[in-house]
Amino acid sequence: MTEREKLQESAERVISWFRANGKSLPWREDPTPYSVWISEIMLQQTRIEAVIPYFRRFLRELPDVQSLAAVDEDRLMKLWQGLGYYSRARNLKKAAVLIMEKFGGILPSEAKELRGLPGIGDYTAGAIASIAYGKGEPAVDGNVMRVFTRLTACPDDVALPETKKKITEALKAVYPVGEEASFLTQGWMEVGELVCLPNGAPLCERCPLSELCSAKKEGLIDLYPVKSPKKERVAEERTVVVLREGDRFSVEKRGEKGLLAGMWQFPNAEGRLDEEGVRAYVSSVGAIPLSVKPLGESVHIFTHREWRMTGYLVDVDGVPDPFRQATKEELAQKYAVPSAFRYYRAAIMRKGKTDEKE
Ligand code: ADE
Repeated sequence: MTEREKLQESAERVISWFRANGKSLPWREDPTPYSVWISEIMLQQTRIEAVIPYFRRFLRELPDVQSLAAVDEDRLMKLWQGLGYYSRARNLKKAAVLIMEKFGGILPSEAKELRGLPGIGDYTAGAIASIAYGKGEPAVDGNVMRVFTRLTACPDDVALPETKKKITEALKAVYPVGEEASFLTQGWMEVGELVCLPNGAPLCERCPLSELCSAKKEGLIDLYPVKSPKKERVAEERTVVVLREGDRFSVEKRGEKGLLAGMWQFPNAEGRLDEEGVRAYVSSVGAIPLSVKPLGESVHIFTHREWRMTGYLVDVDGVPDPFRQATKEELAQKYAVPSAFRYYRAAIMRKGKTDEKE
């Protein structure tokens, strides 16, 4: 059997498997180009179960390209709060504005045109074109690469862009169109997610491709996919300083570039400050510290960075620009505070209550 014949046969099996076993998910009920786009962006880096409630709420509040293009930035961030990787949300809005201007509010159906939009790369373009428009375009993510490299015993390093390109080309050569293209894209991914599991635990007895799988035949499933090691994560110490004046807490907007761009945060400083250091920091931002209480430690892991945080609650007199003063209600409803600060947000919500009793 040539590789092409094997992929052709595999495509047929994956489509049948998906027809019988594909999960019911909210974005599969009526896969419009818009809903496929939003779901695929949310599903990048986030687990399916975690995405479901976000997807429903997002589509309820922003049901089409037009409403997304017009949404207020803070509202958008609030809808995304907790999903992480906030540039995904900002790119959605930027792309929606362009789709309104250039395509009359309708997502283009050609992968080539989709790829020109902010936040849409080869994977998302292929997913929208095939799932929503039935084009013969593969969408290759880590799951698909794992299935492919095991199926064909492919020794190429999946961390390299050339490998992804080569796999995409090989799949594209045998891609159907119409409903089958839609089922094949979703089926490849789902076999990877539910059956051909990573870390040496594939459920081969449930796999539609087990009879064709070269890695299984060789007894060498653990060898695939070949992946070069990732960049190491850098650990940073930070001190989070929650300023409270009366019943309001200070928040500030992060810069427009870089990590957590444009999100709202509690004031924080590099390094691990003690109480004296915290008082000096508070004075340096122009407020007078009245009392300083520890709020505890928390760790947040980003892709290439890890924050090891210690926090304090400081009652202050006078809070200068650029801070905004937010009540608890506003912290919950209005300001998108990223998950990195979740621990401290929860801590002050609790703390306020005990203080009232003190
Ligand atoms: N993971 C990301 N997108 C998916 C899809 N459309 N189907 C199954 N799993 C996915």
